[in-house]
Amino acid sequence: MTRAAEIRFEHVTKRFGQAVAVNDVSFTIPAGTLCTLLGPSGCGKTTILRMVAGLEYPTSGQVLIGGQNVSTLPPSERDVSMVFQSYALFPHMTVLENVAYGPTVARKPKKQAEDAARAALASVGLSGFEARLPSELSGGQQQRVAVARALVLEPSVLLFDEPLSNLDARLRRHMREEIRELQQRLGVTALYVTHDQSEALAISDKIIVMNNAVIAQEGKPRTLYDEPVNAFVAGFIGEANRLPVTLNRLDEKHATVTLGKASLILPHRGRGDGKAEIALRPEAIALLPAGHRDAALDGTVAKAAYLGAVMEYTIDTEAGPVFVIAPVTDAPLSAGDAAAIGLTGRGAAVLAA
Ligand SMILES: Nc1ncnc2c1ncn2[C@@H]1O[C@H](COP(=O)(O)OP(=O)(O)O)[C@@H](O)[C@H]1O
Ligand SMILES: [Mg+2]
Repeated sequence: MTRAAEIRFEHVTKRFGQAVAVNDVSFTIPAGTLCTLLGPSGCGKTTILRMVAGLEYPTSGQVLIGGQNVSTLPPSERDVSMVFQSYALFPHMTVLENVAYGPTVARKPKKQAEDAARAALASVGLSGFEARLPSELSGGQQQRVAVARALVLEPSVLLFDEPLSNLDARLRRHMREEIRELQQRLGVTALYVTHDQSEALAISDKIIVMNNAVIAQEGKPRTLYDEPVNAFVAGFIGEANRLPVTLNRLDEKHATVTLGKASLILPHRGRGDGKAEIALRPEAIALLPAGHRDAALDGTVAKAAYLGAVMEYTIDTEAGPVFVIAPVTDAPLSAGDAAAIGLTGRGAAVLAA
């Protein structure tokens, strides 16, 4: 039903008075894909979304949708719909009236608007709920109405601003899968804002990690997890231990990286010989008995927590505290026990300069 369109930012800056909300940001979101903007509160995510929607205009730079420069076009002249965090449903209107509102304002005949609204409600699994008021729906159902209301306009771009943040954890997981499924079925381009890294990893073709009004790193979920460019990205996507290492270049690409008594061969990512840092995922660390011959670092258990499926340990080592996830065993370690950690080879990355 839709003609997906590419979204492109070219050196976009947005200032509010003295404050720079978005600073010289460039990216491309290919037509028909889902991209998430991920980052802490205040980093500029909503401002980027509002510039795609036409609710804000760039101070400088260009916003292109489907190759057309839309930088100064009002929302009504862009083929874009937005799902807000608060849903923004009209409380006194029925579900059908809420969804038919957009097409009615766009001067579609009533019958046609209602038919389109019924189809949009069916696509989000809400057939049969047309006559209810928003207050007679659960949070998840209200969220679906908000999505139907965006879909009914058949936009070529769908924008989501933290659409699941008002839902409980279980429903959030379910709804994120529904949104992804719907986006793929319709083939629409979607830009999705979240501060939840697992949500971003689960649904995205591409993630753009933002920090302080600029892009920290963009890429496929797996690339960001396996090859974070810096400590901010490593810490924001998943858990990461940041540990000091000694680096010795082997060739153009690789280096021997030494942590305590153990070494790994990793891409050096532009770092020269000498001191460097690695990001080490908790699952990349083997918990070993004290004194084990494969140990990189010996240490002492500082914290031990039983989480049902796994144990979480913090091991104090000479390189600092190390966070480890380990299988549950019959005899888990406790605080004060001697232990050692080894490297498994996966989930380690040199942090680029
Ligand atoms: N209308 C506005 N007037 C002044 N400052 C704003 C306005 N909108 C956003 N900002 C500021 O711009 C920065 C980015 O905000 P925002 O895009 O809402 O971040 P996020 O969605 O990532 O939390 C923040 O410092 C915020 O205070
Ligand atoms: Mg926001």
